[in-house]
Amino acid sequence: MELDKEIGKWLSGYQQACVLITANKLKVFDALKSPVTAGEVAGKLGLSEKGTERLLNALTGMGIAVKNDGKFHLPEEWQRYLTKDGDHSMQQWIRLSSDLMPVWLELPKFIQSGTMVKSIMDVLGNQPEEMRAFIDAMHDKGLTATWMLARELPLDDAKNLLDVGGGPGTYALEWAKLHKRLKATIFDIPPVLEVAKTYIKRYDLEDRVDTMPGDFTKDGFGTGYDLILMANVLHMYDEKVGRDMIGKGFKSLEPGGRLVVHGFCTDDEETGPLEDAIFSLNIGMLTQGGRAHPVKEKMQWLEKTGFKDIRHFRVQAMPTGVITGVKPK
Ligand SMILES: C[S@@+](CC[C@H](N)C(=O)[O-])C[C@H]1O[C@@H](n2cnc3c(N)ncnc32)[C@H](O)[C@@H]1O
Repeated sequence: MELDKEIGKWLSGYQQACVLITANKLKVFDALKSPVTAGEVAGKLGLSEKGTERLLNALTGMGIAVKNDGKFHLPEEWQRYLTKDGDHSMQQWIRLSSDLMPVWLELPKFIQSGTMVKSIMDVLGNQPEEMRAFIDAMHDKGLTATWMLARELPLDDAKNLLDVGGGPGTYALEWAKLHKRLKATIFDIPPVLEVAKTYIKRYDLEDRVDTMPGDFTKDGFGTGYDLILMANVLHMYDEKVGRDMIGKGFKSLEPGGRLVVHGFCTDDEETGPLEDAIFSLNIGMLTQGGRAHPVKEKMQWLEKTGFKDIRHFRVQAMPTGVITGVKPK
């Protein structure tokens, strides 16, 4: 590719994101379940016909919508992900990406100062509406990952799972749904657990999934677990907190128990996978010490703590990185 074209490709990325975000915000996807003209969509949603037509054309160009004889619709596969009642709706995740846009505009400030521009923990602890949106988005994003991890991990034998920083509890709930003997505890800060409880109810798993309020930088995790999950939490903190958490996980596991760390983690050079390298910027803007800690570093944390059978692999999900270790018997 010519370099000017490559620069153009990177530059237009945010414009395509804006098309997706705008269609989601204006509820355009929900209006495309069957073939409709731009005028019909505009009339139904109170939008301009001129703008709507251009948006629908762009969505078609992106390969999301289909246009036939002047009418647009979303193929069934896309409806699953983009409509409100799709079985894998990503609407809340797209909304979070939109909420993060103003933060990304502050990137120069972060590069200049090296300090965060907005505290995600302040949002989670003190801003109920934004917290709810964030936790709902985690659920949308986490679903595929829960299935991909379940394929790779020997979960069948696990009886007692601790989901550290579990947020909505997506992993605990999906795995408990899959394995009828599995009991799970979602550990998180109290306001987030109020949202987790709504998910536990929605999954109808109150008899096997419960919650434990706490601050994992200060509190212990209890004991008696044969499986501990840390999904998308270590990247919110610096190395010291990460090591401490791995240590606490080790203490809380039964001999033979397994720790699973899922999250953004770069290669040794910290330049890839690209989404992990980009995420390191994202989390740098939202936390004090967060980073997509490289795989090798995280594996060393497990090794130095005493874990054995340490393994790293990637799954086709967001994010891709998984590291596991077993507490010796
Ligand atoms: C990015 S979310 C990940 C949620 C979930 N594990 C997932 O992957 O979908 C991080 C979660 O960690 C929780 N968390 C962050 N710091 C925490 C702390 N110090 N103590 C307890 N929970 C914390 C947040 O409240 C949030 O629910």
